[in-house]
Amino acid sequence: MTKTLLISSSLTKAEKYELLLPQLRSLTEVETDTTANFANIAAALKETFNWWWVGFYLVKNNELVLGPFQGPIACTRIRFGKGVCGTAWKERKSLLVSDVHAFPGHIACSSSSVSEIVVPIINNKGDVAGVLDVDSERYNVLDETDIRFLEKICSICGKLM
Ligand code: SME
Repeated sequence: MTKTLLISSSLTKAEKYELLLPQLRSLTEVETDTTANFANIAAALKETFNWWWVGFYLVKNNELVLGPFQGPIACTRIRFGKGVCGTAWKERKSLLVSDVHAFPGHIACSSSSVSEIVVPIINNKGDVAGVLDVDSERYNVLDETDIRFLEKICSICGKLM
């Protein structure tokens, strides 16, 4: 089991993700508990990219409920179709929001967050079982490369549920 992440800070974003993916796989394949695995995935993403906030919201009783995360305290519940997270759930698609102030209905858990990506997690029944939410306090940091790799990470997550 990988216990220390091996990712040099001098690499490009895509190179970091390429190194991170197999380490996430080996970290999670030896553990069956979803909370434990999602907690380590959130920690690994925070350690690698140092985003403002990164974590999971999981579908429980037809609501998104805060799951494992790294960063400041956050809203605990988000309804279907609400905010960026609830919209990604409803539309079953990844959303890149370059400026949250321009997103109608954005839920401001923190005024420091200005851009974000939310990727749905599909479980083995084909249902959205949660979302991965990445928030940045900077503009022009999150992009299509993040979406591409975060979707791969969410594909791993979907198999861990
Ligand atoms: N920004 C999210 C809410 C969650 S927090 O930012 C951690 C949204 O609008 O769905």
